[in-house]
Amino acid sequence: MITSQNGADCVDGVSLREIAERFGTPTYVYSANHFLSQLEKLTDGLAPVDAGVRYAVKANSNLAVLKLFAEAGTGFDIVSGGELERVRRAGGDTSRTVFSGVGKRVDEIDFALKVGIECFNVESSEELDRLSQRAAAFGQPAPISIRVNPDVDAATHPYISTGLKENKFGVPMASAPELYRRAHRDPNLSVQGIDCHIGSQIAEVGPLIEAAEHVFSLTDSLAREGIAMSHVDLGGGFGVRYGNEAEFDVAAYGRALAKCRGKRALQILVEPGRFLVASGGLLLCRVEYVKPSEEDDGISFAVVDGSMSDLIRPALYGAHHDVVAVDETQTTTAQSRQWDIVGPVCESGDFLAKQRVLALEGGQLVAVMSAGAYGIGLASNYNSRPRPAEVMVASGEARLIRRREALSQLFADELID
Ligand code: LLP
Repeated sequence: MITSQNGADCVDGVSLREIAERFGTPTYVYSANHFLSQLEKLTDGLAPVDAGVRYAVKANSNLAVLKLFAEAGTGFDIVSGGELERVRRAGGDTSRTVFSGVGKRVDEIDFALKVGIECFNVESSEELDRLSQRAAAFGQPAPISIRVNPDVDAATHPYISTGLKENKFGVPMASAPELYRRAHRDPNLSVQGIDCHIGSQIAEVGPLIEAAEHVFSLTDSLAREGIAMSHVDLGGGFGVRYGNEAEFDVAAYGRALAKCRGKRALQILVEPGRFLVASGGLLLCRVEYVKPSEEDDGISFAVVDGSMSDLIRPALYGAHHDVVAVDETQTTTAQSRQWDIVGPVCESGDFLAKQRVLALEGGQLVAVMSAGAYGIGLASNYNSRPRPAEVMVASGEARLIRRREALSQLFADELID
């Protein structure tokens, strides 16, 4: 995402130093071009099945990001009323929006019924009952698909694996036919499809195809009972490169899916989040202090102004993010050494990266790479830290797409009298 122009580290022609001077740090910086080129890579790769893309809003829900994808023609995958409202405000197409999630509340269901969405991805028998009641009250059938849990190992971090039977998501394959029969008989429900999502940051095509095979064979047996549907939603989860791993091979997935679907007249939907936005974002921070170790085998710390409250992935999953010292050769007089890059938050788990060999000193800018997905969305105000600003670079210009939170916003809703 970073290119060097006349010795300056730039995102699509705009220097990171200039962005830091204009907007301060820590700041998330996104490349609109990069986001769109990932979308193109995905749609090209999945061209053999002409998949419908439903961008998983949770990966990065900034309105400007949603607007970019809406204008590029994607639909959306949401998991809350809040995400539905974001899609609307960004001008997204709610008739191509699917609603996932294990705990949909009555008010969220009512909101989605009123707005008119593509499909509710139902995750339990009780949810099916609730949907039927709410649709009856609303006076129009609710479009549904059942999210099945195919008990397939996505071979990813346990916190982001969702397709094993010990995970809370979806209904077991064995109970799905009965739910479909119920939905089929119910005039308040309209069966549209079937759904499955087995996890995130999946590196290999194999587990996704195994899950797809289970799903397609269930559609066959349901069709034999006269329960027809129009789409198969295979979820997201396509992995990206954070370090040395290979990027998920979307073209191989597209070819394998085409074989798997065969001649069935079913539209394929996918719900990618990370694949579209992770590698097109970085978190720009500045070194506040360095604490070089005085012992030969000790750990040296570079304390930056970004922290686990801004990007929690390293602390939460032990996730790796590459770190770049911005304009390293030009600005730094410091000698290279190995650093743990940590934030100001009062937790030993507050680190952004460990054991990185970089030339750092106070004032140096660093870019934490591949932070476009699950970065700002998981940011918090822990330690009463305002959340970072967000900047999007598009057509060679950096534009503020979310102001840095002000201190007054931190306690605007708190009451003392
Ligand atoms: N569809 C459903 C139903 C999901 O639960 C998710 C992600 C997605 C689609 C999009 O998955 P993706 O294509 O982004 O892998 N915070 C974690 C990731 C949590 C993923 C949650 N569900 C992380 O930072 O790695």
